[in-house]
Amino acid sequence: MESLISKINKLQDVFAVVGSREAEIQLPQIVVVGAQSAGKSSVIEAIVGRDFLPRGIGIVTRRPLILQLCHTAAEDEKTRNGREGDWAQFEHTNAKIFEDFELVRKEIADETDRSTGTNKGIDDMPISLKIFSDRFPNLTLVDLPGMTKIPVGDQPLDIEQQILKMIMHYINNPNSIILAVTPANQDFATSEPMKMAKEVDPEGERTLAVLTKLDLMDRGTNALDILSGQLVDVKLGIVGVVNRSQADIMAEKPMDEALQAEEAFFQKEYPNFAKTQGTRYLSVRLNVLLMNHIHECLPSLKDRVASLISQYGVKLNVYGRPIEDKNQALLKILTRFSAAYVATIEGTTRYVEAEELC
Ligand code: GDP
Ligand code: NA
Ligand code: MG
Repeated sequence: MESLISKINKLQDVFAVVGSREAEIQLPQIVVVGAQSAGKSSVIEAIVGRDFLPRGIGIVTRRPLILQLCHTAAEDEKTRNGREGDWAQFEHTNAKIFEDFELVRKEIADETDRSTGTNKGIDDMPISLKIFSDRFPNLTLVDLPGMTKIPVGDQPLDIEQQILKMIMHYINNPNSIILAVTPANQDFATSEPMKMAKEVDPEGERTLAVLTKLDLMDRGTNALDILSGQLVDVKLGIVGVVNRSQADIMAEKPMDEALQAEEAFFQKEYPNFAKTQGTRYLSVRLNVLLMNHIHECLPSLKDRVASLISQYGVKLNVYGRPIEDKNQALLKILTRFSAAYVATIEGTTRYVEAEELC
């Protein structure tokens, strides 16, 4: 995410100069959908690179979690107020600061129980959580309860419809990227989240398929036909991942160890595909999608700057003064930025495509 952050920061500097808040770039929100226990919460944790979500067997995520990553530079003393590491804040606990992410996980679980009870009930009222860090761009991720068909515990009889409606609400937003999560030990061709994504994104412009639990496939079977796109073609790609198992969670296996084990898994089982698989590569793909989005926003920003310059030009002419150099310089900076963007995005895309050919 680092290159993305530095680019957004540069753009933000331009916004600051032209004072254009409405043109500010809003990154798409990333929404994770899939069946219960498909590994959605695990995928979000891996993207964020932190342990903080309740995960486990059965229906653990029972309310939507709206997670806002808030970029906070290391030197931003005003916001940091002496804090060196990452911290979190919930909307429902106001100004309370969480620096221990075990307590963040506990608070999500407790707040879920407060509104839904402890017997597997669900609620569409979201929990809002912000995480402040210098490692992320400003980005929103949404973790959702999984699709399920048969009610258990206190769940209503129409649980399936209720959850589908909840998911639909988030993926309908055209400014969302859908991460459709399917476990590799289930039938990908009939994947429910892929079907749902297709309803709101028929052209597949904003749907990325994630295949979890590759380590749990039956011996002798592998997912080559899926990962190669031969079985189902997904425009933005199909990325396989191996998250921590329930046993790993119980043993509190650290994330960096899990990432290393994941890389070793792909090297061993899918040597020809290893470069375009795994959690790290999923982050690269997301980065490309987010950069493409920024790229699409640039023309309107350029228009805005051009119109500001001509406005100032008119004003300055009234005073009989030449057009100020600063404005010209600004346009030059912006044009350079745009060119750099195109180069970076095309470069990254080429890199990705080249890797995909391996
Ligand atoms: P969610 O219900 O979709 O949010 O799924 P969770 O992230 O809570 O994961 C459900 C269970 O599946 C947990 O016990 C995870 O440890 C396990 N799990 C998730 N991804 C993988 C994976 O890639 N491999 C293995 N072996 N287990 C996984
Ligand atoms: Na689960
Ligand atoms: Mg979950």
